[in-house]
Amino acid sequence: MAHPRQMHLALLASRTEGAVWRHPTSTPGAAAQLRSFSHQAAEAERGLFDLFFLADSSGLRNDPPELWSRTPYFHNVLEPATALAAIAMSTSRIGLGGTATTSYYQPYHIARLFSSLDHISAGRAAWNVVTSANAFISLNFGEIELPDHGSRYVRAREVMEAVNALWDTWDDDAFRFDKESGLYYDPQGLHPVTYRGDHVNVLGGGLNIARAPQGKPVIIQAGGSSAGRQLAAESADLIFSSARSVAEGVAYNTDVKSRMSASGRDPETMSILPGFRVVVADSADEAEDKYRAICALLDDETAVLRMAVDLEVDLRALPLDRPVPLDILPTSARFHTHFFDQIVAKIKAESPTLRDLARWWVESATHRGTASDLADLMEEWFTAGAADGFMLTFDLPAGPTEFVDKVVPELQRRGLYRTEYQASTLRGHLGLPTPSSPTVVAAGAGM
Ligand SMILES: Cc1cc2nc3c(=O)[nH]c(=O)nc-3n(C[C@H](O)[C@H](O)[C@H](O)COP(=O)(O)O)c2cc1C
Repeated sequence: MAHPRQMHLALLASRTEGAVWRHPTSTPGAAAQLRSFSHQAAEAERGLFDLFFLADSSGLRNDPPELWSRTPYFHNVLEPATALAAIAMSTSRIGLGGTATTSYYQPYHIARLFSSLDHISAGRAAWNVVTSANAFISLNFGEIELPDHGSRYVRAREVMEAVNALWDTWDDDAFRFDKESGLYYDPQGLHPVTYRGDHVNVLGGGLNIARAPQGKPVIIQAGGSSAGRQLAAESADLIFSSARSVAEGVAYNTDVKSRMSASGRDPETMSILPGFRVVVADSADEAEDKYRAICALLDDETAVLRMAVDLEVDLRALPLDRPVPLDILPTSARFHTHFFDQIVAKIKAESPTLRDLARWWVESATHRGTASDLADLMEEWFTAGAADGFMLTFDLPAGPTEFVDKVVPELQRRGLYRTEYQASTLRGHLGLPTPSSPTVVAAGAGM
């Protein structure tokens, strides 16, 4: 029997960094080579994924150097919109999403980048809205300190409103290209944009490219904080969540979808995809061995340094075999609030040793097993309402291929996943309507 609801799948491109760059099957530096990303996108498209996604950070981590020089993270990666434009040429159906920060880009830059990508890809572009959550990013933009969490989200809201207004610069049919009459575009179909905010302004300008094939590119958000969830509920089309359990996923989805209802949006129009790090193999033992081989690349001291970034405190002087004292922690996070809260909750609930806590934080969110184990797990999350699909990530280069060959057919057999693409745009894959251009909306409102 056909399943009434089907999963959406996205692939977070592997950058073979962290500790994994040292794995025998990794190609260090692959994230700066288009070949690696193109291959992953092609494999995801072969698996009928909705979306191929490139994460990004606008800064360079270098503190402490003894951590980052051994476990690189965005130290050598292609800029997403540029890379996705190239990947659009070697794919034809899969959505193409990339990150751009609202804290430092101007709305015009974001509107232009993702509208161009939507044109290049014939309606497959998505913008992942982030506010940047790392102190060092501000340095590239002439500021010593990142603005605080609250004001980053105030600016994010303004940037999103201005980007949306810029995407509405032109009516669908504004460009006439009428050689006989000499009319290139209909001036009635051009709507200059005025947007005034506390952080960003557009003063009667507009976007110098026709309305996007999708009407507007898809908007992704992954905020974990209350402000992030609220913004996502009001204005995103797709969410990546960082839920680590079915219960957390259900709570997150219930919260975001009730915020959507409260702001007059239909919760059915939102897909929430938890980030799922996956290792698949033909037997449970083999999957465990593969996973252990990845874990073994990271020593305890480096795991502690890595967790200390999210806990926003220097843990280097603490013994590995004792619990972390709560009184040395900041009272609240300045950056990744949700990550910080998850670690603090674990300390409060179980008082693990520093070693165990760090290893749990860097390792535990990996789901591993056979195709049928993983399909069981995904089905459990999906049917419990903890997920509308999954944002999958694989540490090892072979990951997407193994998943597509082994897990996808199992999900299809269960009726949980599409057996062919039904649409050619990302909005189509997600079941989202194409937003009408301003004149059409205004005409409709008056009828
Ligand atoms: C799957 C996934 C992908 C993400 N990708 C990015 C990214 O590319 N760049 C970034 O700065 N943050 C990224 N984030 C982090 C979130 O955007 C967000 O900053 C974080 O969850 C903290 O939420 P908050 O800002 O509401 O406190 C990602 C999070 C998830 C779960």
